[in-house]
Amino acid sequence: MATGVEEVDNILRETAELRIAVPPRRALDFGCGVGRLTQALCRHFDHCDGVDVATSMIAAARRIDAYPDRCSYHLNRSPDLRLFSEGSFSFIYSSLVLQHMHPDLACRYIRELIRVLAGDGVLVFQIPTAGHSSASDAQTSSCYPHPLPESALRATIAVSMAASRASAGEQVLITATVENSGTCTWPSSPSCNARYRIQMANRWLTPQGCVYQQDDGRCPLPRDLAPSDRIELTLLATAPGAQILELDMVPEDVCWFQAVGSTPARLWFDVLTPGSVSTPIIHPTHTPPVPRPIMRRPFRYRWPRTTDLLERLRLWGCLRSVRGWFRRDVRAGVSVSMDMCEVPRCTSENLIRDCHAELRAARTEIWDAGIHSTRYWVTK
Ligand SMILES: C[S@@+](CC[C@H](N)C(=O)[O-])C[C@H]1O[C@@H](n2cnc3c(N)ncnc32)[C@H](O)[C@@H]1O
Repeated sequence: MATGVEEVDNILRETAELRIAVPPRRALDFGCGVGRLTQALCRHFDHCDGVDVATSMIAAARRIDAYPDRCSYHLNRSPDLRLFSEGSFSFIYSSLVLQHMHPDLACRYIRELIRVLAGDGVLVFQIPTAGHSSASDAQTSSCYPHPLPESALRATIAVSMAASRASAGEQVLITATVENSGTCTWPSSPSCNARYRIQMANRWLTPQGCVYQQDDGRCPLPRDLAPSDRIELTLLATAPGAQILELDMVPEDVCWFQAVGSTPARLWFDVLTPGSVSTPIIHPTHTPPVPRPIMRRPFRYRWPRTTDLLERLRLWGCLRSVRGWFRRDVRAGVSVSMDMCEVPRCTSENLIRDCHAELRAARTEIWDAGIHSTRYWVTK
């Protein structure tokens, strides 16, 4: 919470230095999490609203709210902010949020943030503008010339919740402790495009153990993980129906760890479809007793020399693309998880102009691994 106070104080100081006045009426913290920034905003504004997509975040934020008479937290699972009318807020802040969603959705929310901004208000939002697909990829791809050996693909995954409930279509944050039970270090990558990057991933199974939805959320490793080392990872999953959530690690473009013998973690979900009666299913264990769907051991581990040869002849990529038309066992590319996505600065500038708002300032910082993060100050 102390970091929230410092961040909000700095933002308001920078806004004052830009000679932009902020009326202290009502503030919105978009993507509030547990309220780190919302609580800090309460020190400066008559009323504050925090909005988040995750039930668990809103519940935690309400529990530790120190300003219950002046602060409201809202769960919002719509791709818009229709819960607020136009011009509702004199200050809007969003930090470390828009990077966790598809760029199209981020742009949609930026439009909404401008819509709910008052005529005399100020919007400040942050989003990465570059670095993932250019500088950082060049950097990380050299760290990923080959996938890890098969003996490295072993994980011990413990989900931090025993059973859960969600409405169909609801996004839920899934936290798990992951131990590297393999033979060598898993390298991290900040990029959501780097080939062979290691990520935690989830998919959904039916109670009979068949695959219901093959790909869902992703969470990349924020740091290298040595053998026997552990890390807590969180991904954003979307509940599709009454199903079992399965968590595993994936080196992208290679396979799920379970395809080479690692054991995934499974979690029962009681998913309520609209109109269904809420009858909780109580399951005593983290690992539902479903037969494991058979995943074939990847070709590259069965035939390493042939794969090497095909790679040297630059034929491997072509074969994989052709195969991709027929079968998809690993998703490449950007996910709805805690991967970082970027919106180029010119896109945000055009969008602000389209909404008849004024860009008053934009400041870019360079994070680790060359990621450029830009903060925009917008008025109407
Ligand atoms: C890294 S946390 C940052 C929390 C807070 N802004 C802070 O800086 O302490 C990202 C938050 O964004 C939320 N989030 C992701 N997608 C969202 C969406 N579509 N609408 C609202 N919140 C979202 C997540 O649930 C999570 O709480």
